[in-house]
Amino acid sequence: MAAREPFYIATPIFYVNDVPHIGHAYTEVAADVLARWHRQAGDDTWLLTGTDEHGQKILRTAVANDSSPKAWADTLVADSWKPLLELITISNDDFIRTTDERHEKAVLIFLQKLHDDGFIYSGEYEGYYCVGCEEYKQLDDLMETADGDYAGQKVCKIHGRPVEILKEKNYFFKMSQFEKPLLDLYESQPDFIQPESVRNEIIQFVKQGLDDLSISRSSFDWGIQIPWDHSHVLYVWFDALLNYITAIGYGVDDANFERRWPAVQLVGKDIARFHAVIWPAMLMAAGLPVSKKVFGHGWLLVGGEKMSKSKLTGIAPEQITETFGADAFRYYFMRAISFGQDGSFSWEDLSARYQAELANGFGNLASRVIAMVGRYRDGSVPVAALDETIASTEQRVTELADAAIERFAIHEALAAIWTLVDELNGYITIQEPWALSKDPAKAGELDTVLATVVHGLGTLAVLLSPFMPTATERLWAAIGGAGELRAQDVRAAWQWTGTGKVTPLDSSLFPRIEQTEASA
Ligand code: MSP
Repeated sequence: MAAREPFYIATPIFYVNDVPHIGHAYTEVAADVLARWHRQAGDDTWLLTGTDEHGQKILRTAVANDSSPKAWADTLVADSWKPLLELITISNDDFIRTTDERHEKAVLIFLQKLHDDGFIYSGEYEGYYCVGCEEYKQLDDLMETADGDYAGQKVCKIHGRPVEILKEKNYFFKMSQFEKPLLDLYESQPDFIQPESVRNEIIQFVKQGLDDLSISRSSFDWGIQIPWDHSHVLYVWFDALLNYITAIGYGVDDANFERRWPAVQLVGKDIARFHAVIWPAMLMAAGLPVSKKVFGHGWLLVGGEKMSKSKLTGIAPEQITETFGADAFRYYFMRAISFGQDGSFSWEDLSARYQAELANGFGNLASRVIAMVGRYRDGSVPVAALDETIASTEQRVTELADAAIERFAIHEALAAIWTLVDELNGYITIQEPWALSKDPAKAGELDTVLATVVHGLGTLAVLLSPFMPTATERLWAAIGGAGELRAQDVRAAWQWTGTGKVTPLDSSLFPRIEQTEASA
């Protein structure tokens, strides 16, 4: 395999105020698919995820639940967030918590450096604050309604809850100095922020002018203490963004840091501003390279609005995996939503795609092929020249899928791969191997058909393994694929070799689901 540049991808770290919903799982799956693809291509890959545990939001939730913030976070991490990763087969290489000692130590190093280099000063701040967003708000970010629970109050457009007025002595980060360098960055690296819609929004925002950023709080103490003034704790976003470098050894393990940094940042578009404005400004101030890319994906919508726990529209991932399984969960969200755009979740669409594309399309193809090799060749895969049209489709979809993954067009990669599923099903229909099997003079033709479809299935297993790791492992074992599936170079999927015997699947890769179950 030809290893290219290292690939370090990080998800946002999740607030532990509540349990995960499918919007959170969506970010995780997308990052995991990209990481698995690169890992399987032989790139030096690292996938980081974790939890964001400081700040007022977590503190208030813990207090409301008669808990301490640390005990609350420990419980949610152990009972909800880590199990989510297992539930949807996320292959993260590390899990960072902002309460980890390694994080807190490295944050202090970073802060002290910015302070010593003159990027931090003390001042007075007064403004509207949304605890849901953990962010000071401008009037543009707020709305007032004439009726309802919060009539006459200023409420955050994202959370729909009233903002608070905060007035404090704070430490400030001189972010305004970075207005020009940031605009230069967006200009000189046009793909730094993607997709285009998010890039345009960020450029507009920065062009309006950047204020300095308040980075400390003294009204509560759940956070990392400012090293030169223990009466203040660090602003939760400043603390959280640093996880991307503290997790890989910033200030402690230079060799590892050099090896991994910079990262690709995959975030929901609601938090792209933090990642594409504040974060690169912080890195520039510290003399570090900025991230490779900030990709802001769209939202899962319910009734046209962002799915959210605070609006009680959250769907728990296990509601889906219990019926459809983790592979189908992963497949569905990556296939049905154009990556970078919003998408509406619906049970009907999930169920329809499951039946058509997974059960009848891919799953049935696998079962048929394996059964035919068993029936007509006693389980031995014939050695024969492959059908040239199918072989060239295998090559083409491998290249298309890789190019799509490079562009973060995950849905396009799947669509390209599915043309091979459809073509193999069509090939079987046209070739009619059941008819060929009845005519001894057609034995050579039948060998070609069987060898071709088994090879096609192997290529599908290699290409789909980053998307559906469990089903493809089963398929690989059933067609007698040599070596580990994860070790097959995904960029050369169509060139895989080495099968001898097939073994029947003990059950379908994607069993048909009764309508009542699917719409439960
Ligand atoms: N803790 C911050 C991130 C700090 S990163 C230094 C945070 N956490 S979050 O738990 O609220 O959100 C984590 C991720 O989940 C974000 O990328 C967010 O966009 C994503 N999603 C939350 N709801 C979502 C949908 N309904 N749809 C898609 N993604 C959603 O923000």
